[in-house]
Amino acid sequence: MADTTSRTRLDQTPEWHALARHREEFGATHLRELFDADPERGRRYTLRVGDLYLDYSKHLVTDETLRLLRDLAAATGVAGLRDAMFRGEKINITEDRAVLHTALRAPSAESIEVDGTDVVPGVQHVLTRMSTFADRVRSGDWRGHTGKPVRAVVNVGIGGSDLGPAMAYEALRAYTRRDLTVRFVSNVDGADLHEAVRDLDPETTLFVIASKTFTTVETLTNAAAAKRWLLAGLGAGDEAVAKHFVALSTNAAKVAEFGIDTDNMFEFWDWVGGRYSYDSAIGLSLMVAIGPGAFREMLAGFRLVDEHFRGAPPEENAPLLLGLLGVWYGNFFDAQSHAVLPYSHYLSKFTAYLQQLDMESNGKATDRGGERVGWQTGPVVWGTPGTNGQHAYYQLLHQGTKMIPADLIGFARPVAELGDLAGQHDLLMANLFAQGQALAFGKTAAEVAAEGVPAAQVPHRTFPGNRPTTTILADGLTPSVLGQLVALYEHKVFVQGAVWDIDSFDQWGVELGKVLAKRLEPALVDGAGGAEVPGLDGSTVALVDAYRALRGR
Ligand code: F6P
Repeated sequence: MADTTSRTRLDQTPEWHALARHREEFGATHLRELFDADPERGRRYTLRVGDLYLDYSKHLVTDETLRLLRDLAAATGVAGLRDAMFRGEKINITEDRAVLHTALRAPSAESIEVDGTDVVPGVQHVLTRMSTFADRVRSGDWRGHTGKPVRAVVNVGIGGSDLGPAMAYEALRAYTRRDLTVRFVSNVDGADLHEAVRDLDPETTLFVIASKTFTTVETLTNAAAAKRWLLAGLGAGDEAVAKHFVALSTNAAKVAEFGIDTDNMFEFWDWVGGRYSYDSAIGLSLMVAIGPGAFREMLAGFRLVDEHFRGAPPEENAPLLLGLLGVWYGNFFDAQSHAVLPYSHYLSKFTAYLQQLDMESNGKATDRGGERVGWQTGPVVWGTPGTNGQHAYYQLLHQGTKMIPADLIGFARPVAELGDLAGQHDLLMANLFAQGQALAFGKTAAEVAAEGVPAAQVPHRTFPGNRPTTTILADGLTPSVLGQLVALYEHKVFVQGAVWDIDSFDQWGVELGKVLAKRLEPALVDGAGGAEVPGLDGSTVALVDAYRALRGR
């Protein structure tokens, strides 16, 4: 068992102090100076991992910085915790669970034990069942209650049971069967389900109810509403459910209680965290869309980066490097947020997906020993695809007062089916490269003045630069490349959680709001309003009353 409790507090370690001293010495060193000092930097500070090419030359680091950061990783036991994770040890200490999303992409020959049982055969068994089911739906062999083939699949889930498959479906649209409609419903706002089904035919619609726990109120509410919509549309009773509802869950009892036949349930396990689950049964809607072959290619991409993370030396280990760069900025430059800016419209949901992965994992302030941390932990993660963001919030990235490290992600080739539109791709990529350049090197006052700009305008038109970016390039956005990208971020988040000494795999912070909502709901509908809820604060009482008045209650 990895020793996760008895270590020196992070900010008391010599390695932390060494970094703090180094930061002082680093001062306001500019990327211009770093590039002047080492013209080879743009080639030297790069890594290749599978199909990914990573350029980290535009970071405020020297060889010394990188060495000190790796020393911090060594001192905080990142490698030991990583190995414990891959071995299936219960590193999710507050829930006493193994953390084994890596087993979801392990080859069948591998053996990984949890509580003395090899979990790999179970993973492979579920994958085979998913493949058979996906093929049946894709071929039209899976028929609805009235005998018509399914043509629309609606995934109902939230958080990890939505963001991953929804993101990957969008990312891999070019690989999907275009004659199948695939939609994702998550919000308890009834508008979400309403808009998703309003033009669908109940006879040819399949609902995939995705919930690890099968207790999540949003998902159960939407699933019940979907059932009502379906049965009303078919004019049928519960006997129609079996042909139109399948479940993805760890909780067979709750699935059965909801009325879904457990023969139509695809299982996963408590050692798969929700935000790490879209390569488990939670990916069924995606698999229906892209097919079992492409799904397996995606798993192989994940696996490739798993192997890299486990085996590559620290100097060449990409997730380790990205994690440590985040530590450098968050803890030594006071950077509060991190932007992920994909230059691919297909990755329009990628950053939203990473928000859960990163912020639900590392948005913690209690260390693994139960003490309050004395250092910054997870950043705010945000961003949208380029070039759209350039015409919205990039102003702040370039000239604002905040340091926001960013990842720029792009692909050498557009997807094959774009035809004539592929010509636009060079323009897209020129924008990506230009942004990295402008953020790093800016434009000095002297350069602006030399262009004949009136003196009063010079300060406004000067770009300070020195804003760090990582550029990630790949040949194309294939299923394997998507798997590689996601695994890269999964392990980056792991590294940061390990350094910060927090449990990256629980999410207690989401519980309070759920409890309070449950307590409040009746006061919105019945009785005399907020004043009747014991202990309710004055602001919420007033809001409940205002809401009730607007609803005429
Ligand atoms: O409330 C947060 C959370 O537990 C996430 O961690 C999870 O991905 C999501 O809710 C959905 O949970 P479930 O899959 O159990 O419905």
